[in-house]
Amino acid sequence: MTGTAYNAYLQAETLHSLQVPVTQNEGERSFLVVCQVQELYFALISHDIGAASDHLRKDALPDATASLQRAASHFAGLNASWRSLGWMLPADFAAIKVGMTKVHGKSTSLQSWKYREMLYRLGLKDASLGDEVATMPKEYAQLRRVLDAPSVYEEALALARRRGHDLQESNDDGVTDGEHPLDPAVVSFWTSVFTSKEPECSELLALARALIAVAEGLAEYKYLHYVTTSRTLGARPAHFGVSGTAWLTPTLTVMPFPELWATRTGGE
Ligand code: HEM
Repeated sequence: MTGTAYNAYLQAETLHSLQVPVTQNEGERSFLVVCQVQELYFALISHDIGAASDHLRKDALPDATASLQRAASHFAGLNASWRSLGWMLPADFAAIKVGMTKVHGKSTSLQSWKYREMLYRLGLKDASLGDEVATMPKEYAQLRRVLDAPSVYEEALALARRRGHDLQESNDDGVTDGEHPLDPAVVSFWTSVFTSKEPECSELLALARALIAVAEGLAEYKYLHYVTTSRTLGARPAHFGVSGTAWLTPTLTVMPFPELWATRTGGE
């Protein structure tokens, strides 16, 4: 056997061969590595949210909460990675973008299927954005499967139903993209979880807190992305031909688990 255990486990040789710059820009390596690190975090968070769904389906509530707490911790790491791009000026971003287009064709991060998968698992199911990877059959098929499967939020509500909470089976498509009206029965359910003194509700309360922590992590991610975009691109046109910041602005207020947030209006 050649090599060392450390490098074999990390596949370090492969890992360090994965950065292939497309410009002479000295900072491009940091941009590329941050993008790769963020991709890995998208996949990791998506994996742990998927694990939480599996646990919920099996009525293993504490395990589901642990998976979600892990996902929330990953958001802290993911979000800190934006700091590595603090140096970046509009000229750097523009140069890298030109290089990417020359070498790989027109690109947009909307082509990140792992980001989309992560959002779908959270219940933020914009199907049309998933179509950005329709030219990648394997990844697209996987994404469609996740799109069609219940989100972690739907699994949480299904578990609550099995535990006897009075919640109608949802008639809608399970989409929580900010466009759908709140379900008053679900708001009441989460309100009761936050206010109940019943020991039976403590596991659900821990789950609700973990869901909120995940949603906050995503909100912070989107805001830091917006700030980075404001600094490096500003209102110049991006993929859709409209101002990049204008396209991102409405995404900032789209939150997963809307009824959980709605309980706060009632003071819970
Ligand atoms: C550093 C400068 C960056 C700028 C100026 C920028 C700009 C933008 C813009 C304008 C969009 C909207 C779609 C489009 O026009 O392409 C977008 C979307 C997106 N970007 Fe970035 N971005 C930057 C860095 C990153 C990094 C490092 C990542 C992580 C890999 C990333 C991930 C994403 C994702 C996942 C979306 C889709 C957002 C959604 O669906 O709501 N971006 N970006």
